[in-house]
Formats: sequence, structure tokens, C-alpha cells
Amino acid sequence: MCGIVCYVGKKKAQPILIEGLKRLEYRGYDSAGLAVQNGDHVDYFRAVGRIVELEKKIHDHDITGSSGIAHTRWATHGEPTEENAHPHTDQEKNVFVIHNGIIENYQILKSKLQKNGVRFSSDTDTEVLAHLISKYFDGDLCEAVRKTMSKVEGTFGIAVIHRNKPGQIVVARRGSPLIIGVGKDGNFAASDISAMVRYTNKVVHLNDNELATITEDGFTISTAQAIAVQRDAETVEWAPEDAELNGFPHFMLKEIFEQPETLRNAMRGRLEQGEGVPRLGGIMPVWDTLKECRHIVIVACGTSYFAGCVGRYIFEKLTEIDIEVELASEFRYRKLNFPHNTYIIAMSQSGETADTLAAIREARRKGAKLLGIVNVVGSSISRETDAGVYNHAGPEIGVASTKIFISQLTILTLLALLLGRHQNLSLTEGVEAIRALEVLPEQVQTILSEANHIQAIAEKYYHYNNWLFLGRKYCYPIAMEGALKLKEISYIHAEGYAAGEMKHGPIALINPDMPTVAIAPKDSMYDKMINNIQEIKSRKGLVIAIGTEGDEQLKEMVDDFIGIPPTLDILNPILAVVPCQLIAYYCARFLNRDIDKPRNLAKSVTVE
Ligand code: AGP
Repeated sequence: MCGIVCYVGKKKAQPILIEGLKRLEYRGYDSAGLAVQNGDHVDYFRAVGRIVELEKKIHDHDITGSSGIAHTRWATHGEPTEENAHPHTDQEKNVFVIHNGIIENYQILKSKLQKNGVRFSSDTDTEVLAHLISKYFDGDLCEAVRKTMSKVEGTFGIAVIHRNKPGQIVVARRGSPLIIGVGKDGNFAASDISAMVRYTNKVVHLNDNELATITEDGFTISTAQAIAVQRDAETVEWAPEDAELNGFPHFMLKEIFEQPETLRNAMRGRLEQGEGVPRLGGIMPVWDTLKECRHIVIVACGTSYFAGCVGRYIFEKLTEIDIEVELASEFRYRKLNFPHNTYIIAMSQSGETADTLAAIREARRKGAKLLGIVNVVGSSISRETDAGVYNHAGPEIGVASTKIFISQLTILTLLALLLGRHQNLSLTEGVEAIRALEVLPEQVQTILSEANHIQAIAEKYYHYNNWLFLGRKYCYPIAMEGALKLKEISYIHAEGYAAGEMKHGPIALINPDMPTVAIAPKDSMYDKMINNIQEIKSRKGLVIAIGTEGDEQLKEMVDDFIGIPPTLDILNPILAVVPCQLIAYYCARFLNRDIDKPRNLAKSVTVE
């Protein structure tokens, strides 16, 4: 959950590092720092708060070095103070280290070092790395890092420079992402690609327990056991403008409006109209066992989990497969007795979520086969699953996940359709589903054209402190996702509930100061949703309905109405979530929230 960025090459490092930090600020932003080397001189600055505070600190300094490391922090050990900001150093200020992850045994290591007279200047776990590397350094920085790794338990993505090794950066990873970037004017390392996408789209993923020494001329990779590794760079499909706002006030709004293109990217080359059978090349390596599979468990966290919850209904509709969905953070504690040929589908935008990664590792131990639905190419989850499907959605910078959610729903639908067409789903049903998928981008565009109407609704209700979101069947997870969107960026309390549960308790909450967003498209649950809305209105509750466009009956019943185009029941969630995203976004704007970097949140939760 911290951001790491490094550069060594022909250019001044400082502006590249600061720009990279800004692209990683969504990963953590309570303090930041950098160390830039010029010969045996190191310019070393740290600041509490956003990157802009660090920029203020270095503003009057001429930092000329062309090699350096930089870090933006999301505190796990030690308060967000300047002393706890990275980089951390040894006592002599020869070693500078930045770290993403948690050193589980840092107290033991710290007390041993203190017994040997080492004085610590911070409360962090990371600082032990600086002192250990200093202790083991005998002229070979990579070997000193390797020895340090052998003493450390826990997770890390680290970058290290040494005053006596100018032009050299050593990086290492175990459990936290670290990627090398190969540029024309120098080389990079970062927590994720967005920090360097402006300079290169050629990346090399480090595996766990690997180190690399990076210089202006290239990089060498080796294992913790000092075995050399040869790995070629991959080309990612992201372009620099993907990591730019391009005129939008926030990345979240940009990514909401990108969703028609996101859907096209998720379906590109995957829809085969004639036979009503999608093509998913990424799962073909395991197709022989997957097509026989009759038990699937989807594991994920947060918004990705809600996507899985929708996926369960879709699989039940389109296939004969027994499907479960589990919160990854709970899944790993269950007694897992998988039926033969069970597949686990790990859903993750970042591909680095620690709970999801831990869950698939536990599932692997218990003999399950693993698929990934991931956005970041080459991320840990994508590399630890047997096969999978990439979202191809480009970077999602806003902490609140939007475009990835509908991309995940689309891919789950394609996967269920593919499997279903090899089970009992007819050609007609397959063709009908594909035709409905093909028009989704234009339908989402239609909803986005109502943004001003939705903004006006948000302006009418943003001052209420408690909201309820209700849905049934396919739209029940949308109620939960809508509530999550609202609370995580506007900080308004909201609950997503199965509408059928209202009479079992939540209806006691209904009052004139509590808006309810009722997701009631004309699907198989419509009549029951109408009943729920009537129950709320009869108790003077406020209702904002998301319904099928032209539904005059529903419009008359409620306080405000947002129309979505008609589609298949299984695809309503993709359309119904867009108004929920916009309601959350505009409420947060009216409340002047920090929308792309909500308090306490990080884009990728790489610690458990
Ligand atoms: C989504 O709005 C949240 N930021 C969060 O719930 C996120 O979906 C969750 O942390 C899972 O992330 P992942 O998809 O990268 O695994």
C-alpha cells in the first residue's frame, strides 16, 4: 500500500521521481521522501503529508543526481511523521532504503541491532533493513541485500542505494509488487506500471524472493540463493495518456466515463456471433479440465467481491455449475474440502491484494485449480493462477473501483456463456446474450448522458447522513456496491441490503431523513421491488429509483427516478451500477471530499 519509484539513467532523477510518486499517491499518501545520488553525494528529503509537501521542501534545492529512489507512505508501523517517512538510513547515512510491505520479525531484529549499539531514529519496521544492509555491506550492495533478505520474515518490495555505489539501485521483492521498467534514457523500478508508463511500456516483473541490480545500462536479476535469472521485458498496452486526467476533475469521473470503451476492451475479439460462443484465449491452456468443472468458488475483496456476487447469479442462469462466492479474507479460514476438479476464480483489479493472494495460495495447497480475472498484466495473482482473463481496462487510478467492476461483470458473463454453451445453453440463448452484450457500450453511454440529471439528484440528497441501497437477485450485489461507492468516497454511511430482508429488520430504519436507492429494473424481481418501494413510501421514506427507462408507474411512485435502457436480467447490473457510481461521485464532490484519494484508503491493499 505504499508507492515505490526509482530511476537511474541520463536524466535528472528528481522530476521523474516526483512525477512517479504523484501517479502512485493513490497507494498511500501520509508522508513521502526521496534520496537522489550524485557521485557519493546524496540529496535526502522527507515530508509529512501529500507529495506536494515534499515538493515544497525540495523547491529551493538544486538536486542534480541522475539516480534515486522515492516513496509515498501508507503507515502500517509508526505514525505518519517525518522520522517515520521513507527512505530510511543506517546511522552513517550511507544506506538509503524504501519499502512496501511488513517486516513481521522486525522487533527481534531491532533489539539484536540495538544490543550491538545501533541507534534507531524511527518507529518503523523498515528501518531495520537499512541497518542490516549496512551491517552486511562489504562493497557488494546486492549481496548485502540478499543477506538481509535471508534474515527477514514478512513481505517487502524494496529499493536500496548506497553512497559508495553511485549509479546503482538494488531492488528485491517478496509478497509486494515490484516492476522494472526498461527505458531509452534510463531504467526504472516501481510498485506499479502507472509510475513509469510515461517513459516506457517495457516492463519486467520480479518474482517473489528475487533481487535485481539496476543501472543506466540495464539490469541483472538473481534469486535469494544467488542464482542468475534471465527474463525478457514484456510490453504493456498502456499509453501515457491513460495515466492522465485528460480534462476530467478526478480520475474517478474519467474512469466512469471511460466505461463504454472499457466494455469494448473487455469484449474485443471475444464475441463470436454465429455460434453464440465467446472466445477466451487466456483459459484455453486449462480448457480440457475447466469445461468438465462443476464446482467453482469465486474469491475476491471489496468491489471485486461484489462483482463475484453478481457472477454467481449469472453462472446459475447460464450454466449447470455449482458456484460459491467468498470474501477472500474469510475464505482462507474455512475448512476447504473441494469436490474433484474445483476451480477457484480470483478476481482482482490490482492482482496484488494480499487477502486474495493468500486465499488462492491456500486453495492451491488444498488441490484446487486456479483462474484469475485480473487487470494488471503480470501481477502476482495473474502469475500464480493456472490461467485467466485480463480485463484490458488500462490503469484504474481512482481508489474507488468503477470501470473494472463492469469489466469484471462482462468477463464473468463471457466465461459463464462459454461454459454454458458447452452444457445446456442453446444456440439461440447464446446468440441472444451476445447481441445484448454488443449494445452495452452504447447503453452505458446513454446513461452517462444523464449525468447532469444524476448530479441534480445527488445535490438534493448529499446532506443526508444515512442511506439505504436495495436490490434483489442480480441487483442485490449492486445495492451493496452502490453503498460501498457512496461510503468510501463521500464518507456518508450507507448500507446495501437484499430488498427481501427489509421486513426482517431494516424497515425500522425508514424515516423522512433517510434516502433509499431502490434498484428496480423491469426484471423477474420487479413486482417484489415495487412492493418494497410501497412499504418505504408508506412510512414516508425517501426513494430514488433506478429503473428501466420509460417506467412511468415507477417514476410516479418515487421521489426521484433514474432510467436505464432495457436489457437481459443478467446484464442489468452493468447498467444499474453506473447511476450508483455517479450518485456517489457527485455527493462526494458536493461534500468536497478528496475523491481520488479517500481518507484511510489505498488502491491496492497489499497487506492483510
Ligand atoms: C473498491 O472501490 C475498493 N477500492 C476496494 O474495495 C477494492 O475493490 C478491493 O480492495 C479489491 O481490490 P482488487 O480488485 O485490486 O483486488
